[in-house]
Amino acid sequence: MSSNSQFLLTSQPRARWMRFDTAQILKRFFFCERSLLISQAAWIPALAPLDVKTGLARFIWQSAETAEALRNRVFELRFPSRLLEEEGTDHALIELFGAVKNSPSVPAYLLSVGKVLLPALRDAFQEYLQASDSIADGPTHRFLSLAVTEKSEQIAAFEQWSESALGENPGLRESAQAWTQAVARRLSDVGGVGVEPSSSASGGGPLPGSKTYAIPDKPARDLRFWPCRFYWPDIVDPAYPYGEGMQLQLRSAISHLNEVWAIENGGLTLSAFADVLPWEWIHNAARWTYDESRHCRMGYERLMAWGLNPADIPLGTYIYESASGEDPIYRLGMLYFFETKNIRHKPARTQLFHTYGDAISEHDMDFDWADETMHAGYGKHWLKELLAVRGQDPTAYDQVRGHCEKLVRDYVSTATRDEVSAIKRQASALIARAQEK
Ligand SMILES: [Fe+2]
Ligand SMILES: [Fe+2]
Repeated sequence: MSSNSQFLLTSQPRARWMRFDTAQILKRFFFCERSLLISQAAWIPALAPLDVKTGLARFIWQSAETAEALRNRVFELRFPSRLLEEEGTDHALIELFGAVKNSPSVPAYLLSVGKVLLPALRDAFQEYLQASDSIADGPTHRFLSLAVTEKSEQIAAFEQWSESALGENPGLRESAQAWTQAVARRLSDVGGVGVEPSSSASGGGPLPGSKTYAIPDKPARDLRFWPCRFYWPDIVDPAYPYGEGMQLQLRSAISHLNEVWAIENGGLTLSAFADVLPWEWIHNAARWTYDESRHCRMGYERLMAWGLNPADIPLGTYIYESASGEDPIYRLGMLYFFETKNIRHKPARTQLFHTYGDAISEHDMDFDWADETMHAGYGKHWLKELLAVRGQDPTAYDQVRGHCEKLVRDYVSTATRDEVSAIKRQASALIARAQEK
């Protein structure tokens, strides 16, 4: 301190960013996370391995929680709420985060996110934590430190996923690397994520090699399982019993595993309505998608714990495919239809599992029931909101549900005689194997 200064002036790194500067950077992080998770959600159906689908669903939820905390923090900092809805001078950067949705292939998508976007976000979060004031901005430090840990885990997972996708498609390595370099170059052109004031660069148009994203008509499936459309005989034959005892234990675990369709529909609807519904939709849909991935894992873990072989376990596609080619509102409708159709059976089955002494099925079903109760609320609320923003009657949500029921019925009626006998054989074989255990 200078001895003859009129004021107390020292170098104070804590004062590097004022309140408004802080809010600007956090707003940028919010839009990056938002954009990143929307493209991850859209890609779930295209990625085959079950652990990738369930892992992505979890990462989407993590991003949505970070984005929610960022958004709330920006509000707390009294940033004008009108400006929070706009990307502003970060437009080109956010556009790039959205552009990976149009990646030309699965390895290209995984590589560009895992090698470029996620590390850029992690590094920016770290820089922010180092440079910001942990006193004035303490609330941000708590959730952003967690986000750094989560980003490191995400980067490691993407690394593994992209290597294994490239291992299966070695012919795509060159184009995937070229795409990743194009994403990295564009990121540098627009000034990176970082913590510096945004560069106000313009977007620069589509990336070379991009392929416009389209919702896949058929979902990719993990080849370790027995592939089919209809995953248990009762779906195609109403006379086939849902079963009791061991058959019910199996049927319930197969049902849980096959909720993979709900992860996919959750992700697709999150992304399809991200720009028409408010942020709360994305936040709810991310949680919903993650919950369905937990239900899917519950089934998988039970089947594995019983010593069954994935190659004997049917993994189907019919619910996903029933809504293919339709307005994505029916994918949201499918979630609502199945949640409300099945929820009443859950407490009774939880009780039955209890009487069998099967604590793990009881435990899973009981947690599932609590999630589904929340989801039925999401389904009704967001179907109504979506109809309202489309200028339609919000009370027509039950008509959407009714149409979904019809779509499924029509699709089930396409089951061939061969398919019906094949799934019956498969189910009998699986029951027999379980009885040997
Ligand atoms: Fe579920
Ligand atoms: Fe659900």
